[in-house]
Amino acid sequence: QPLTALNTFGVEATCDNLFRFTSEQDIQDWLAGMPIAPEKFFVLGGGSNLLLLGHIPLTFLKADITGITYEKSGAQVLVTAGAGVNWHDLVLDSLEQGYSGLENLSLIPGNVGAAPIQNIGAYGVELEQLFVSLNAIDLYSGEKVVFEHKDCEFGYRDSVFKNRCKGQYLITSVTLKLNINPKLVLTYGPLKALSDNTDNLSAKKVSDEVIRIRQSKLPNPETLGNAGSFFKNPVITNHQYNQLKSDYPELVAYAVDDSHMKLAAGWLIDQCGLKGYRQGDAGVHQQQALVMVNHGNASGRELLELAAHVRDTVLERFDVQLEPEVWIIGEQDIFTQSK
Ligand code: EPU
Repeated sequence: QPLTALNTFGVEATCDNLFRFTSEQDIQDWLAGMPIAPEKFFVLGGGSNLLLLGHIPLTFLKADITGITYEKSGAQVLVTAGAGVNWHDLVLDSLEQGYSGLENLSLIPGNVGAAPIQNIGAYGVELEQLFVSLNAIDLYSGEKVVFEHKDCEFGYRDSVFKNRCKGQYLITSVTLKLNINPKLVLTYGPLKALSDNTDNLSAKKVSDEVIRIRQSKLPNPETLGNAGSFFKNPVITNHQYNQLKSDYPELVAYAVDDSHMKLAAGWLIDQCGLKGYRQGDAGVHQQQALVMVNHGNASGRELLELAAHVRDTVLERFDVQLEPEVWIIGEQDIFTQSK
């Protein structure tokens, strides 16, 4: 089965089988009659956070479950969306209904079902701040399961679904809490300017500004294949931070807690002179060094080789280890054999 149209890097890739489902019942019926072991499954969302390497010898499952419903609960509204709803469509729909909460997360590619897996975040807001619960099907037992916030073990671009429960569940819907009276988050650098005049400021305006910022830095996967940030922003100790800061006073970083700082990986890569760097059709984005792009016909392996070069260059220069943020699927020896 071809996967080229189902990954935003637009790399050529195939898998053994691809099954798509439009309801929970559909999934349960299919699992009941399925001879394939769940170890051979891979759950596909919007394909916007994946690097696929050639043929993947797995059966891909995709929940194309749609539908958005709202339910008032005091000063808040609970919104439940099917896993197959496009994330940005949900953001726009909730804003049109007059609810705030999702505006900072505008224009993030991908589907609702994948959002909790990596706890999507942008411009000062992470999904977990709005998250209430999700429904999933256990691929081993076929049972429906509800995950509350505490069950998801959210972290920075992380959750239980990337760790202990990896590969075990197919998320079918997600419930989030939104505000009826807007509580705008304008703490992130480029949004601070909006807080100068909050008189006519609305969630929709914040969303418009986030869209404008994203469009100026992040390539549209439809015209230039990419999967957003390729690496996570690395978290280092204050001790290492202070050493680096004395060598590089311009270092860009944010406090995580009392003893750790998170570095802007884009800055580190940029400082290595790699912004806009290309190896064939695999490239580092010209406007945002943390984003890797497919200029045309790059293969998954070529993108991975470039990523390894970026990682090794940053390690050599700053002694900071970059970890991929995208999921690398297939043979990935370059990344497992760290230098
Ligand atoms: N920077 C550079 N050169 C670059 C890129 C960045 O110097 O080429 C420096 C700038 O100082 C900039 C700072 O790094 O101010 C931070 O850059 P940016 O605001 O673009 O954010 P980021 O840290 O690179 C993270 C997320 C993005 C998210 C933005 C906004 C991660 C891995 N990435 O990027 O998420 O949209 O913040 O909140 O946490 C994604 O996960 O795919 C993603 C795009």
